[in-house]
Amino acid sequence: MSGINYSEKIPNNINLANDRTLQRALEHWQPHFLDWWKGMGPTDFQGADVYLRTATSVDADGWATYGTVKMPDYRWGIFLADQQSERTIGFGDSMGRPVWQQVPGEFRSTLRRLIVTQGDTEPASVEQQRLLGHTCPSLYDLRNLFQINVEEGRHLWAMVYLLHAYFGRDGREEAEELLARHSGDADKPRILTTFNEPISDWLSLYCFTYFTDRDGKYQLKSLAESAFDPLSRTCRFMLTEEAHHMFVGETGLARVVKRTLEVMKELGTDDAARVRAAGAVDLALLQKYLNFWCSSSLDLFGSEISSNAASNFANGLKGRPDESQYEDHVLRDKQLKLDTPDGVQDVPMLNALNEVMRESYLKDCEIGLKRWNRQIERAGHAFRLALPSTRFRRSIGSWVNQPVTPEGKLISREEFDRRIGEWLPTEADRAFVRSLMQRVVEPGKMAGWIAPPERGINNLPVEYEYVKLS
Ligand SMILES: [Fe+2]
Ligand SMILES: [Fe+2]
Repeated sequence: MSGINYSEKIPNNINLANDRTLQRALEHWQPHFLDWWKGMGPTDFQGADVYLRTATSVDADGWATYGTVKMPDYRWGIFLADQQSERTIGFGDSMGRPVWQQVPGEFRSTLRRLIVTQGDTEPASVEQQRLLGHTCPSLYDLRNLFQINVEEGRHLWAMVYLLHAYFGRDGREEAEELLARHSGDADKPRILTTFNEPISDWLSLYCFTYFTDRDGKYQLKSLAESAFDPLSRTCRFMLTEEAHHMFVGETGLARVVKRTLEVMKELGTDDAARVRAAGAVDLALLQKYLNFWCSSSLDLFGSEISSNAASNFANGLKGRPDESQYEDHVLRDKQLKLDTPDGVQDVPMLNALNEVMRESYLKDCEIGLKRWNRQIERAGHAFRLALPSTRFRRSIGSWVNQPVTPEGKLISREEFDRRIGEWLPTEADRAFVRSLMQRVVEPGKMAGWIAPPERGINNLPVEYEYVKLS
């Protein structure tokens, strides 16, 4: 079951050949996807030979093979984690009943919406990143970018499979719409704000893969708990691919910190202007980028108080990430204390699940910060990077548009407007970061603002020619 059939037009491990109608529908969508990839995927690199991994099985070990591929020839397909026998619903009011192999009529539109919203983010991120190849800091990084891009393309396939297989005509229409909306498009933007933000420099890419792909991890984890078993199995396999995206973010930011510390040491100063003049990212500037992307990603979890979150959980559609680690899986008589601008509020736990998820996400985000701060501490500097408060720069929920500092302190609107440039990248900051983005494509060489990685891909040396440009 877990082996993937690559002899078919659409690689899959779902016996697609046995379902002619579905196979035809997906084969009809396939050229539309390829057109989208060629038009909206990485520009000007479609002819390059890229050292990529491809899934060959969904087993926990050894699912990837590595080889040189031109991106349009990547074998996008449909891979589900193996079905667990006698799996039962793990939370909500139907806890303990068998999971569903078909969509229950009463949850059809809600499930479709959840799948479309998740699906929309996948091609969106490819669109956001499409120009980055031109300013890559190394061939190693260029390859990682393309690896992420082809896998986000596959995640789109994963969601489109569910839409086609389980939602009939509406599902097929939604699958077309997933290719028709575009990141940042004035008329037909992507669904979620973060996925319409431009990613025009690599510092933003590392922040995006650190914070926003990690939001993806938490969304997928909560959908992997779903009572709709095909959705659960799809998301479980996507999570194995997602790990690499966050690796790129965490190690990318660690390498930026490392390089900055080297420059500070060479110069014998932590003066931001001198660090910048030497072509590195000063730590205060990095902090502003962290503030921007972290706060933007926090909005993706939704309002602190949400009746949708409550009904999705009660109905078994969407659980908490790592649901099994909790004791109570029904939550009918639990409360949570929420801090709002009007004081502490007691909220039924079911309605506060977005906040529960956001809290566990933030704990996961802390891990990288601790590591980077240890690097800074070892180098003998007092500066510490920090995550912004969940109240800072919120676009939804009870803290929406409140003048709050990254430390979480409510201040006057006037002070907030005056000081916002201390907390978020200014136009000048962004222009400086853009000025650093000079393309480096000599094997093993790195741009001056980032340290080399500790090791290469799949035991190859860092100097390996990971992308052969045509
Ligand atoms: Fe993804
Ligand atoms: Fe991702």
